[in-house]
Amino acid sequence: MDETLTQKNIRTRLAQPSDYERIISVMPSWWNGRNLTALLPELFLLHFYDTSFIVEQGGELIGFLVGFMSQSRQDEAYIHFIGIHPDFRQQAIGAALYERFFEICRRRGRSIVRAQTSPVNTGSVKFHAKMGFQVEYKDKVKFTKYL
Ligand SMILES: CC(C)(COP(=O)(O)OP(=O)(O)OC[C@H]1O[C@@H](n2cnc3c(N)ncnc32)[C@H](O)[C@@H]1OP(=O)(O)O)[C@@H](O)C(=O)NCCC(=O)NCCS
Repeated sequence: MDETLTQKNIRTRLAQPSDYERIISVMPSWWNGRNLTALLPELFLLHFYDTSFIVEQGGELIGFLVGFMSQSRQDEAYIHFIGIHPDFRQQAIGAALYERFFEICRRRGRSIVRAQTSPVNTGSVKFHAKMGFQVEYKDKVKFTKYL
C-alpha cells in the first residue's frame, strides 16, 4: 500500500505544531459541513504531535490523524480525530494511518486503542469496524481495538 501511495506522490509524516491551522481549516468541509473544530484545540498539536500524522500530496493536505498515548491508563492509546480529503477516500489512506498509529502503540507497550464517533457518522462507524474495533453503542459510539 505504501508503495502505491508513493507512486501517487502521497507522503505521510509526523505532525508538527505548525500544522494546526491547516487541519482546522479543512475540518468543516471534510466533515460534510459539521464544525467539530472546537473539539480539537491547539493543545493536541502542541502536546501530541509526535503521535499524530499528516498526509500530503505535493504539499497539499489530504489527511491527518491526531492521537495520543493515555497518560493515566498505561496500556491504552486514543485516536481523537482522523480525516481524509473527500477526493482521496476509499484508497486505504485512513487504514494506513491507523496501522502507523497501532505500530507506535505496540512499540510503547499499549495494547488497547480507543476512539469515539457520533452515531450519525455511519461512514466512520463502518471504517472502525473494518479496522477491527469493537463497538459500544450508547449516546456516542465508543470503539475499542485490542492489539
Ligand atoms: C472515515 C475516514 C477517515 C475513512 O478514511 P478512508 O481513507 O476513506 O478509509 P480506507 O480507504 O482506509 O478504508 C478502510 C476500510 O474501511 C472501509 N470504509 C472506509 N470508509 C467507509 C465508508 N464511508 N463506508 C463503508 N466502508 C468504509 C473501506 O471500504 C475499507 O474496507 P476494506 O478494508 O474492506 O477495503 C474518511 O471517510 C473520513 O475522513 N471521513 C470524514 C471524517 C470522519 O468521519 N472521521 C472519523 C471520525 S474522527
